[in-house]
Amino acid sequence: MARTFDAVDEMGKAVTGAAIIGARVPRIDGPLKTTGAAQYAADYHFERMAHAVAVQATIPSGRIRSIDAAAAEKMPGVVLVLHHGNIGPLYRTVPGDGDATNSEVRAAFEDEIVRNWGQYVAVVVAETFEQATAAAAAVKVDYEPSAADLRTVLADDGKTKSVSKRGDPDAALLKAPVKLDATYITPIETHNPIELHASVAVWDGDRVTLYETSQGVVNHRVVMAQVLGLPVENVRVVTRFLGSGFGGKLFPWPHTAMAAVAARKLGRPVKLSLSRKMMFTNVGYRPRTEQRIQLGATPEGKLLALRHDYRNVTSQLDDYDEGCGEATPYLYSVANLEITSLLVRRHLGAPMYMRGPGAVPGLFALEAGMNELADQLKIDPLQLRLLNDAEKDEGTGMPFSSRHLKECYEVGAKKFGWEKRTAEVGSMRRDGKILGWGVAGASWVAMSLPCTASVELCANGRVCVRCGTQDIGTGTYTVFAQVLHEKTGIPMDRIDVILGDSALPTGPMSGGSMVTGSVLNAISNACTNVMAKMLALAAGTPGSPVEGADVKTLAFTQGKIHKQDASFQTGASFHDVLAMAKLSGLSAEGKTVPSWEDPKAKGVSLHSYGAQFVEVEWEPEIARLRVSRVVTVIDGGRIINKRAATNQIMGAVVMGVGMGLLEETVYDRRTGQPITGNMADYLMATCADSPSIDVTFLDYPDPGMGEYGARGIGEIGLAGVAPAITAAVYHATGVRVRELPVRIEELLKSDIREA
Ligand code: MOS
Repeated sequence: MARTFDAVDEMGKAVTGAAIIGARVPRIDGPLKTTGAAQYAADYHFERMAHAVAVQATIPSGRIRSIDAAAAEKMPGVVLVLHHGNIGPLYRTVPGDGDATNSEVRAAFEDEIVRNWGQYVAVVVAETFEQATAAAAAVKVDYEPSAADLRTVLADDGKTKSVSKRGDPDAALLKAPVKLDATYITPIETHNPIELHASVAVWDGDRVTLYETSQGVVNHRVVMAQVLGLPVENVRVVTRFLGSGFGGKLFPWPHTAMAAVAARKLGRPVKLSLSRKMMFTNVGYRPRTEQRIQLGATPEGKLLALRHDYRNVTSQLDDYDEGCGEATPYLYSVANLEITSLLVRRHLGAPMYMRGPGAVPGLFALEAGMNELADQLKIDPLQLRLLNDAEKDEGTGMPFSSRHLKECYEVGAKKFGWEKRTAEVGSMRRDGKILGWGVAGASWVAMSLPCTASVELCANGRVCVRCGTQDIGTGTYTVFAQVLHEKTGIPMDRIDVILGDSALPTGPMSGGSMVTGSVLNAISNACTNVMAKMLALAAGTPGSPVEGADVKTLAFTQGKIHKQDASFQTGASFHDVLAMAKLSGLSAEGKTVPSWEDPKAKGVSLHSYGAQFVEVEWEPEIARLRVSRVVTVIDGGRIINKRAATNQIMGAVVMGVGMGLLEETVYDRRTGQPITGNMADYLMATCADSPSIDVTFLDYPDPGMGEYGARGIGEIGLAGVAPAITAAVYHATGVRVRELPVRIEELLKSDIREA
């Protein structure tokens, strides 16, 4: 397929060479996606492939007395019904094994206990998807129900864990002249990637290939080897493309094992695809959090004490901690601080990391608290933040590697026009609407994870990079190609990026916005190594123009090997040298030194920062609230691809509008069934809800992130949006909303009756 790659700079001018780093490079996988040639997991089809459909529990808590599959088994096309009684051994993963992180501690069908509505209790396999669907509905399950705890509120007693502590926050709070004590609530939200989870299992003897929706093919492989009881080398996981995941696809879910066992028993490939409804019950969610924030300050606004006590809901068996205190220890300078956590069990499925886990809900509470404190003190909320900015990470005592949060605020304020803000509630109007303006800070962790990439110079004149990571849809294929082009000078249309296969050199999970900051260093090293090998090959190959030369006098420029003191045009193309040497290709590996081993990274605090400025329009006459404008300034290290990066932040801001105003998974309190478990009732921000979004990157390379100084971005864009929205809502309406999402019912309490 012909492909065009117009990498352009900020002015729209075509760029090549070193300038490609940071340029607006279009997605190299774009044509594959827009023509339908990209194969997602559920797109794989094989000869004799059977289709599996899961049967879900219809009670939230209890025991399975019996499963009657007799009628289902006699239905047309049905070839297998699996359940607790016949699935055979499946194993848990080794606790604490960092190479094998699973989603649910319990293996599929492990016992006959039901712990949440929708839990898988059986799986039906048939010749067609329709036959399997019909038969799944005919499986009769007799339950012995038991009392379920489905209370939404997390007011349970329990043992809290101290997450971070310094000074004496309780004593300091008692003495503080100004105090704030408020509890903030974020609801359960569900990951709603466009692509549904799916697993296609294909066995060859005792080896299995799993076509998966996985944000981490390498981890997925190790987990499935442990779960299925196979040697790790017998498992291969393939995820060439992902229709996003938002964290829901980080680790395997039980349907993978169900598909694998069914395929092994039948000796045929099996596909299991989840329905949208199952996406709300079987593959994680962002848990509800209740967070008490206590702030103590001087009348001038200097923070004296900070307590952040959070709790989150989790399932009966999984100890999922949302980590709401992630950003709290280092965002502000405050001598006395404590963060505690508490897990509260309900009869719900396992929670799972969702875009910006921990920091995003945590910053909703902390930043909303700071905004309320500013109002209480009658200090501009921006000034309050600048006044309490931290000089070092007071949680660890380490210096910041690269923190430009103040500049984010200053640049954002200017772009937004913050100086025109009048503090009084309902005091700003435009076009017959009341305006509300709010601000909040953002932060997100950064880290280089250990990984390996290999780069191959091929006899056909192409160069390729291989890495066992995957592109979740953010532009990973493209940024890797940019580094290959920058290093080798080989044109973009002769570059291949090969990802999404656990058989490739070990790469990181597409999680935590860490792929770019991790893998680019390995790719760069692999390029250096393969070019050095190519120089040596050229010098040692009879007939090459540099035959017999000392490699120290040679260079590799734009795909040609030449003497350093001569122009590259005088050299030989690498593919000509490969032909002379009768080689199909030459490859080399490169590695990334992880942050915890890199001398420039291990003693410093690595985070991205940002500032979110939000404008809402409030029409009190018809109770309509809209987020009209967002200015976001991101300090995310060096930006590798301005187009993909802007796209990431814009998407995150839209998600933030959903978090602020719309998203919530609501469960029936009698059954535990989600009553917003579909895309009509689960409200998400759409184009119509999207504000005008202005994205700015400060673009300071982070010296702690290796050669490129890229921290990776994506999640940072969501942090801080919701608290800036609730601050803007208060500014417009006078209604203080501490529980997300902001509901019209709350806004009707506003005293302001007309604009
Ligand atoms: Mo993200 S929640 O780390 O996939």
